[in-house]
Parts: sequence; C-alpha cells; structure tokens
Amino acid sequence: MKKIVINGGNRLHGSVCISGAKNAAVAIIPAIILSDGVCRVENIPNIMDVNLMVNILHDMGAVVNRIDKSTLEIDPRRISSPFANYDAIRKMRASCYLLGALLGKFAEAEVALPGGCDFGVRPIDQHLKGFSVLGAENSVSGGLIKLKAKGMLKGGHVYLDVVSVGATINIMLAAVKAEGRTIIENAAREPHVVDLANFLNSMGADVRGAGTDVIKINGVKHLNGTNYTIIPDQIEAGTYMAAAAITHGDVVIKNVITKHLESITAKLREMGVQIDEYEDCIHVYSNSRLHRCNVKTMPHPGFPTDMQPQIAVLLSVADGTSIVTEAVWDSRYKYVDELKRMGADVSVNGKIAVIEGVDTLKGAPVKATDLRAGAAMIVAGLSAQGTTYIEDTDHIERGYEDVVEKFSSLGADIKVIYTDDPVSKRA
Ligand code: EPU
Repeated sequence: MKKIVINGGNRLHGSVCISGAKNAAVAIIPAIILSDGVCRVENIPNIMDVNLMVNILHDMGAVVNRIDKSTLEIDPRRISSPFANYDAIRKMRASCYLLGALLGKFAEAEVALPGGCDFGVRPIDQHLKGFSVLGAENSVSGGLIKLKAKGMLKGGHVYLDVVSVGATINIMLAAVKAEGRTIIENAAREPHVVDLANFLNSMGADVRGAGTDVIKINGVKHLNGTNYTIIPDQIEAGTYMAAAAITHGDVVIKNVITKHLESITAKLREMGVQIDEYEDCIHVYSNSRLHRCNVKTMPHPGFPTDMQPQIAVLLSVADGTSIVTEAVWDSRYKYVDELKRMGADVSVNGKIAVIEGVDTLKGAPVKATDLRAGAAMIVAGLSAQGTTYIEDTDHIERGYEDVVEKFSSLGADIKVIYTDDPVSKRA
C-alpha cells in the first residue's frame, strides 16, 4: 500500500513553482475535440485527472504528441464518433465535459456517466437543461448519457438555477459551433471558466463576457488549431499558502495570478499571516499563532470550496473558535473525522463546522477521503507533532503535481512509502 509519511514540525522555507490549473486543463483538453486543426497546449499539469482525459482523447482517435512534461500537441481530426465509453470516464467528474464537446462537434453524444470526488449528490440537471435549450434531448441507458439534436444545435437563452462551473463550461462547449447566439445567465465566474473561453476564442470562437455572470456566445462554423498556455492553479497555490502559514514558514510561491488568490489572501491576512504580492509570485510568511476567523465558501470571487478543508486545518490550531460554512456542496466534511484523529476539536452540523482551536495537532494514521481533503491532511501533517501516515494518496495525485517533491524542496520531512508495515496501520 502506498502512503505519504510526514514528520511534522519543519518550518517551510524557499520557493515553489505552481503548475497549470487542473480544472482549466480538464475543460480545455476535451475542447480540443471541437478543433479542425492541431492544438499545442502549454503549462498542462502532469496529474492523474489530466492524464486520464488525454488518454480518453487518444483512445477516441486523437493523435497526441507529448513535447515535454507540460506541453502537448493534440490533433483531434481523427475523432470520428460521438461515442465515449471508457473506464477512465467513470473515475472523474470532468469527463462530463466530453458531453458538451462531442455534442458541439457531432450534434450528438454518448458518454459513460462520470465519477469524481464524493461530496454527496452531484447532479447534472443544469448541464442537461442547457443542452436541451440548444436542441439536444437526453436519455440515460446502460450507464451512458445519450444526447441527440434534430439537425444542427441552435443557440438559445439559458438561465442557470444554480451557479455551476460544470454546466457553464459544458454549455459553452456545446454552443461555440451552434447556429446563432447563446446566452448563459447566472454563469460561473471561476478563473478556469475564463481560461476555457480564452482558449476557445484563440481557436476562432466568439465567446464574450466570461468572468461575469452573463456569457454570450455567437456560434461559428469552424474552429482552427491554436497555441495556448493554461493559467496557474489557484487551489494548488492556495494549498502552499496554507502550508506556509501553518508551519510559520517563509515561502515564495511562483507562477501565480495574484488576482485569482484574492479571497484566500484576504482570509489568511485576517488570520495574521503576512503576504506580499508581486506580479507573478506571492510571498507568504508567518511567525505568530494564527487568529480565528469565520469562512463561508461561495462561487468565485467568493472563498473557494476547494480550499475549505485546507483552511479548516489552519483554523483547527488558531487562537479561538471559528465557524466554517460550506455553501457550495452538501457534504464536504468527510475529512473532519480524520482531522479529529490528529487531535482537532471540530463539530459538524449540516453545512456548518465549529472549530475550537487546539495548541497543536498530533501525527496519526489518516486517510485522504478526497482530493482537497488529502491536501488538507498534508497541511495538517506538516504542522503536527510526530508522524502522520496518509492513505489513499491516489486522490491527492489526481490534482497535485509532484506534491511530495515540492514540499520536500521547501524543507518538509515528507516521503512516499510502499508498505503493509503494522506500525503504519491505522489505529
Ligand atoms: N449543481 C446542480 N446541478 C447541476 C450542477 C451543479 O445542482 O447540474 C450544484 C452542485 O450540486 C453543487 C453546485 O451546483 O452544489 C456547484 O457545482 P458545480 O457544477 O459548480 O461543480 P462541478 O463543476 O461539478 C467544479 C470543480 C470542483 C469544484 C466545483 C465548485 C472541476 C472539474 N471541478 O465542479 O472542483 O469544487 O466546481 O467550485 O472543475 C476539485 O478540484 O477538488 C473540485 C472538486
């Protein structure tokens, strides 16, 4: 069994370079299906979710050429079927973007039902509502979602009942080559939504307003090949900021867009962490106990739900009582039981967690219950007294490139072991 082992207590120091954004990459790679030429994409993170998506395109017929660790050239012109039914699809949520991309290209799609982190119910009703406005009806059978339009897709007016990143992206993918104009109201404003729009526009699409809550898409007939560089990962950067703060470290985080980090920066400053912002890097340092604060997750530009577990770890050692409200997902506190194994004092009632700060966390065997929960366990382990063993590290590898190497380079005592040694078994 593979585990991450951390001997906590080292102050992080030095600099770390942030990889390309996972949630942008998993949208941009399927968007390549829509292109009539070769797409060269740089700053692609070398992580499991992205590699799965690249493999799916390859299995569908795309020619994939890896130029270097973070650059791919993909020629989608041999993708000739709207059908995608692979095991990899069932392993990740973002595979639902194949629906929008295939529908946009073929006016029909048949894709295996997607998997992904378990935060309770993860519906796609808003995606399907958008596809239906464009003229595609849906059905589910044999573990596949089937979409089919009568003739070409036609632009329309979609009002999202909830602000959904996935639905916004999927409707954009389906609409870029539809006939006429599509308007998405109450659209998600996340940086990766904007990055996808920029990518599509670089191929010749006409997408306007991404980053606001109204996106207007004028359909075009063709999309050409392009060269594009993916934005840095906001949540990876936030995770290293949190780790620097909790270890009273002094870390320069490079390759970031500071604007994307504003809500995280604001909360960390409220907790007493020193942060200096530069053009494409951020300096995080702290040498006193963190202050308590309250955090509520919101769609962008609010505090990101994908940073909720990491910030909760910081609050678990802050000087007082903090309240965390998870307002995006129904159930994103599975990691709390693991954090309690390390001595945290947290009680959860529905969407609210009340955290009483303790003096210090203590190393323990814990599980990564999902991607960000796993990242939070690393942040906890880095500050804890003693040794933390993290199981189910696959979740972490889905979203963090070279996580052990990057933390090691900052002075953390962290490594991967392969063992069934009883010492490292869960208590
Ligand atoms: N929702 C609906 N109906 C829909 C779609 C969503 O009710 O048709 C609800 C969800 O149940 C949830 C809320 O709307 O309560 C927001 O869901 P959203 O669709 O925005 O989430 P997503 O697209 O499935 C993406 C990220 C998640 C991140 C959320 C929220 C990707 C691949 N995933 O998921 O990232 O938590 O947006 O920001 O972009 C992660 O990276 O760890 C991760 C889980």
